[in-house]
Amino acid sequence: MRNFNNWIKSMAINDILMRIRQNKPPGAEMSVLDLCSGKGGDLLKWRKEQVDRLVCTDIARTSVELNEGRYKEMLNQASQEVRPQKIFKADFITADCTKQRLRDLYKDPELQFDLASCQFSFHYGFESHQQAKQMIQNACECLRPGGYFLGTTLDSNELVKRLRASEDMSFGNEVYRIEFETPNKTQLPLFGAKYNFYLEGVVDCPEFLVHFPLVEKMVAEYGMKLVYREPFADFFTEHIRKGDGRDLLGRMQALEPYPPAEEVNLVAKTSEAYTHARSYLDARQADKQNGWPSTDMKVGTLSKDEWEADSIYLVFAFQKVEETTTAPFPTSQVQAPTRKRPIIDPGANAEPSSKQTRTLF
Ligand SMILES: C[S@@+](CC[C@H](N)C(=O)[O-])C[C@H]1O[C@@H](n2cnc3c(N)ncnc32)[C@H](O)[C@@H]1O
Repeated sequence: MRNFNNWIKSMAINDILMRIRQNKPPGAEMSVLDLCSGKGGDLLKWRKEQVDRLVCTDIARTSVELNEGRYKEMLNQASQEVRPQKIFKADFITADCTKQRLRDLYKDPELQFDLASCQFSFHYGFESHQQAKQMIQNACECLRPGGYFLGTTLDSNELVKRLRASEDMSFGNEVYRIEFETPNKTQLPLFGAKYNFYLEGVVDCPEFLVHFPLVEKMVAEYGMKLVYREPFADFFTEHIRKGDGRDLLGRMQALEPYPPAEEVNLVAKTSEAYTHARSYLDARQADKQNGWPSTDMKVGTLSKDEWEADSIYLVFAFQKVEETTTAPFPTSQVQAPTRKRPIIDPGANAEPSSKQTRTLF
């Protein structure tokens, strides 16, 4: 499942960087902000995508140090290659991106990014309105016109649907469990709707529901317009249908081959966990008997529990379609920028809202 999530991330990053490159003069510099970058799990992706500048930031000092260590190792290895490849310049910043204005911490405060990438982390920002605003400001304010804000996060609609269908304040299966800390399921706040997410038994920091219609309004204040917002399952189907990323699926071992090779254990222990894969293969077998060409005797899959866990995620992208000028303001007080002029497509419905209703879910 981790490999599958990584595949989604790689595909989304590759697709967005391609879109960015199409609109840049050949050879123009490509800069990326990796927000909540963790231990540097995406460093190799930035190298493969040949970005020129990278800023990584995370709240956890040890993760930032590990990330920087990996980067230095990468530089060192590259310098020993016969034909040394150019590696991007990178800065590493330890900061809480929900409470600090990152721009104040950049070596060059005028730095502009083509892409702000926030992978599996956006949900940490929604503890309060102020924190969400700060995180969004950090993601959007330094984007170049035409730049993108790309992320993966949990799909709150799906979470709320599952919560309301459950008997108590929690739901899940063998792979994941989500326990809400809010008092009831009918009145969930827009900010601070807190839950604990256990993935394969491990709990990370508490997370918060991200109400997407509100996000669209908040980012619109930075001239950002929604490009897409897709559950992982749809994103996967769409790319596979187009024939994109099949090789990468194999290389990343993003799916389990079913049936497994001899002496290989499947992730899930029971055969019920793979009945969908069995049915698919049986149907292909029937096609073959009816004279249809079919060679699929193995299929790549995830167990049912893993699919169920994965289907709570979504991937989203916003693009900066209007220039904005940021009014100077104290770091502790997040203030929206003033709009300047449309640069791409003004986005008919992208009206910023000053009113916020207490509960919307
Ligand atoms: C699930 S990890 C994702 C790491 C990386 N983006 C990836 O895709 O591998 C979430 C990361 O968000 C970081 N994080 C959580 N809250 C944060 C905050 N308020 N400011 C900055 N980073 C934060 C954590 O320290 C952790 O490294």
